[in-house]
Parts: sequence; structure tokens; C-alpha cells
Amino acid sequence: MASGRYRVCVVGASGVTGGELLRLLINHPGVELVCATSREFRGEYVFRVHPNLRGRTELTFSDSTIDSVLKKDIDVVFLALPHGQSIEWVPKLYEAGLTIVDLSADFRLKDPKAYVEWYGWEKPHPYPDLLSKAVYGMPELHREELKGAKLIAVPGCMATAAIISLAPVVKAGLVDTDRIVVDAKISSSGAGAHAPRLDLHPFRTYVIRPYEVVHHRHTAEIEQELGLLINRQVRVAFTPHAVDLVRGILTTSHAWLTKPVQEPEVWRAYRTMYGNEPFIRLVKDRAGFQRYPDVKYVIGSNLVDIGFEIDTRLNRLVVLAAIDNLMKGASGQAVQAMNVALGFPETTALDQVPLYPV
Ligand SMILES: NC(=O)c1ccc[n+]([C@@H]2O[C@H](COP(=O)([O-])OP(=O)(O)OC[C@H]3O[C@@H](n4cnc5c(N)ncnc54)[C@H](OP(=O)(O)O)[C@@H]3O)[C@@H](O)[C@H]2O)c1
Repeated sequence: MASGRYRVCVVGASGVTGGELLRLLINHPGVELVCATSREFRGEYVFRVHPNLRGRTELTFSDSTIDSVLKKDIDVVFLALPHGQSIEWVPKLYEAGLTIVDLSADFRLKDPKAYVEWYGWEKPHPYPDLLSKAVYGMPELHREELKGAKLIAVPGCMATAAIISLAPVVKAGLVDTDRIVVDAKISSSGAGAHAPRLDLHPFRTYVIRPYEVVHHRHTAEIEQELGLLINRQVRVAFTPHAVDLVRGILTTSHAWLTKPVQEPEVWRAYRTMYGNEPFIRLVKDRAGFQRYPDVKYVIGSNLVDIGFEIDTRLNRLVVLAAIDNLMKGASGQAVQAMNVALGFPETTALDQVPLYPV
């Protein structure tokens, strides 16, 4: 921290979330971006891979090995690597005393055995001690634990929308936690820069494609985080759909009310929990162009728009949430969590107004 700013490295910086991290971090007054790694583009200017950064950084991609990153004398490292890769990096980086912000799922689940069930690992997580130290990087739920945290597991993108939008009504006991149904729509950037054939433009355009209809991985973290709020198991049926958007996630959750509930009580649950949250907007309007959350109005921002409607006929609560998957769903939330961990104002480098129209 020689310059008075934290020295930061982004590992996996050629990818989609890596590029978004660079976009945010070059505007962060408290950090100095000293390293961005890539195996494929080593030595190349970062702006040649992320053209939006032309004129904003002269950084070139450096070696993507643990030793070369450690030699950069950094304080903070963001791991924007595929699932199953961060686990190779974290133990050594942790031992070196760095603050680690991991965007993968490798340290999100608290139960070591859950990785066998949800991620198909042959054995339980090999570092249960590090798992217990990892803080789930969602400031709205874990702000106190994040202060000073050295290992941050950034939440999954669709899980973020589902957890944040459902947490207040779960915590307030308004809904039956044995059966919550979450339907998600996700954009193509969610599949990363090395997407499989079905996510290439000709195969993705015009698509509203259900996938991993049951047992999607994000189910595990949604159940974990909602369960932690009430110290009881929560059961979630989660189904995602790939849609023809570049950025954005919309979740529509269906929960059944535990008693007859009027609107003010639901509003109260949200305002009690999120009244002072800088990135949460409650959207339920009778006039104007936006009546409910819509991805169109959050793109480029770290916001979560949340809305709801009560279905008195079926005793059902419908909860809606819209986020930009690369911002609140990944890199924005990662920077937000880092801000809390290092003691910066939480909105530092994150107060973008959404692009409109997009
Ligand atoms: N995309 C999203 O909306 C989103 C949201 C939340 C969380 N996440 C998570 O964030 C992580 C990154 O996702 P992404 O979408 O940015 O993926 P991505 O676009 O595929 O980028 C990952 C980068 O990691 C590097 N990489 C791949 N394998 C590696 C290895 N074995 N060792 C070192 N570097 C390796 C690659 O760069 P080089 O080949 O150039 O080295 C690649 O550009 C994933 O764990 C993902 O699940 C993504």
C-alpha cells in the first residue's frame, strides 16, 4: 500500500466479470490497479480485449500464475476464474495475507459436502477451515462479518436477485419456507466469454430457454442464505431461463403466505430491512413507465429493484427482482464487498445511474 492506495490485481481479467471489475476499479480512488492476468492475452494491452477501456488504462495482461501474482506486492486480489479454479489459488493467497475477493462458487457454500451434491466434486471441499472463514459477500445480509474479512465469496448472480428480494419476507415470517418457487431469466453474459455453442449469437438470439430446470447450483446458496436468516431449513424450487439479452437478470418468486397479509405489512418488511440500503429500490408503482422491476432500468448500475404483488385468491406473494448480472450479480457486488471489508464508503466507484434507454 505504498502509494496510500491498496494495490489490486484481477486474476482472470480477460473474462466478462474480469473486464467489468477493471471498468469499476480504474475509477476507485482508494485502489491502484497494478495487475490484470490472462493466459491467452499475456503481454497484450488490456484495452485490446476490453475496448471500452481504451484511453482509461495502459495496463497490459500479465502472467496468470500464483507466484507471478504474489510477486506484484499486492494487497487485494479479485479472482474472476471459472468454478473449481479459485480453490487452487485461495490457500496460497490467504497464507500470504492478501484480501481475496472470489467471484466463483468455490467458497460460497458452508457445508463441505454440498460441493459433491451441487458442483459434482468427487470429494467434499478440501479446505473446510477456509470455508468457515469465507464471508458470503452480500453486504445487505453480512455487512458486519465483511468488515475486515480476508476471504470474500461473492454470491452467484441469480442467487443474488432471489436472496435479496426474498430475505425480508422470509425473515418477517410472512411466507411458508417449506416451498418457495423461484423463476429466473438470465442474459448471455452470465455464461462468460468462453460460452458454449448454445450461447453463441445465432443459437441464443430469440431464445427463452429453460435449462437445469431442477437442481440448478444456485438453489444451494439461496437455501443456505435464506435458512441462515431464520435458523431453519428453507426449501426453494429454482428454475432458470436463458434469454436474449446481453446483461440482466429478472427473478419472479412465488411464495405462499402464512396468514392473510395486507400490502402495508409487506412494505414494512422491506422497509425495515432495506430502508437505508444504498443499492436497493422498491419498485411498485401505479403510474409511469415502470410498475414493477425490469432489467431495462438497472443496466450498468449496482442496483437491485424489488417489487411484489399479493394474490389474495391463492394466498400467494409474488416477489420480483431485477439486477445487472455483471454489476450487483458479480463485479459490482464484489467491489461493494471489498469496500466494506477495507472500510471505504460502500458506494465508492459504484454510484452509476443506470443506462437508459438500453
Ligand atoms: N458472468 C456472470 O454474470 C457471472 C456472475 C456471477 C459470478 N460469475 C462467476 O465469475 C467467474 C468468472 O466468470 P466470467 O463470466 O467472467 O467467466 P469468463 O468470461 O469465462 O472469464 C474467466 C477467465 O478466467 C481465465 N481462466 C479460465 N480458466 C483458467 C485457469 N485454469 N487458470 C487461470 N485462468 C483461467 C480465462 O482467461 P484466460 O484464458 O485469458 O487466462 C477467462 O477469461 C466464474 O466463476 C463465474 O461463475 C459470473
